[in-house]
Amino acid sequence: MVKETNPSNVVRFEHVSKKYGSFRALDDVSLEIDEGEIVGFLGPNGAGKTTAMRILAGFFAPSGGKVWIRGIDLSKEPQKAKKSLGYLPEAVKLYPDMRVSEFLHYVAKLKDVPPAGRRAHVQEKMVLCGLTDVGHRLIGRLSKGYRQRVGIAQALIGDPHVLILDEPTSGLDPKQIADIRGLIRTLGKDRAVILSTHILPEVSMVCSRVVMINQGKVLASGTVKELESCLKDRREISVRVKGKDHRQAAIKLLQGLPGIEALRMKEEPGEEMRFVFETTQDEDLRARITQLFVQQNIPLVEIQRVELTLEDIFLHLLHEGRFAWKGPS
Ligand SMILES: Nc1ncnc2c1ncn2[C@@H]1O[C@H](COP(=O)(O)OP(=O)(O)OP(=O)(O)O)[C@@H](O)[C@H]1O
Ligand SMILES: [Mg+2]
Repeated sequence: MVKETNPSNVVRFEHVSKKYGSFRALDDVSLEIDEGEIVGFLGPNGAGKTTAMRILAGFFAPSGGKVWIRGIDLSKEPQKAKKSLGYLPEAVKLYPDMRVSEFLHYVAKLKDVPPAGRRAHVQEKMVLCGLTDVGHRLIGRLSKGYRQRVGIAQALIGDPHVLILDEPTSGLDPKQIADIRGLIRTLGKDRAVILSTHILPEVSMVCSRVVMINQGKVLASGTVKELESCLKDRREISVRVKGKDHRQAAIKLLQGLPGIEALRMKEEPGEEMRFVFETTQDEDLRARITQLFVQQNIPLVEIQRVELTLEDIFLHLLHEGRFAWKGPS
């Protein structure tokens, strides 16, 4: 059978799964990444992000499914396919006793960068990654942020079309995080970038698209705007009531309102109860709730409406699998 590949796809996962023994770390993952995208694999610890990246980098084969890199089947032509990839592993192994420029020259040699253009090639990556001032320094003596830049520079050697960055900002201080995020945005202008993170704001700040992963499965995929738009009519209302005796009456009233979901209740200090629920109603229910509670003599202390954020969608997806995502994948 002739495989149809979309020519704009630089990466394509088709029903990829990975088992470690009997444990399924990736389960039927299909995704496509196009030129010009910065895609964030977002998921909690153990979600399968690193596993997906290692498969993509050709570290090991999937237990099932296929990976295509720029239309090349990774299992059939691994060397050719891998030429298009640059990879920054989760725990990058650099040579602490080598100087930065020496190490990058060494990588350029390993990646078959022609000797005539090697110096200029390495220099260009050092400029791009802000390494020119530390070219002569021993890698082992660099700060973590600079070591990460060296890791990114080595991934860029050979001018890959796809850059895979596994948790590129992990363990860095806020200034270094901002610098590395800026660098990733710059790099994303000329190549596809796939990065993994468990930090949601990172995805909003850096990525053009998010792939949410949990327990080896893709939960949702779309631009940050698309993911947010499936929340646009959803909000949370929080109602605080004085006196625990009113619990049953309050629950009955709230459950009787249309469009109320996921009603939760919490006891609060000072004999207070808090009820939180989601609503998809266009109508603002606050006035109605106030009126009903007054009619029933339930002492209302506070009523608040909270807009849901991308963080909420992520948590909902993780914990409850709600907000079934129907957008493009
Ligand atoms: N070599 C291995 N042998 C057995 N199980 C493994 C192996 N590597 C990963 N796993 C398991 O597979 C699951 C996915 O791991 P993976 O490292 O891909 O997650 P992750 O999303 O990168 O997590 P983190 O955010 O902690 O880096 C985890 O449950 C992990 O324990
Ligand atoms: Mg990982």
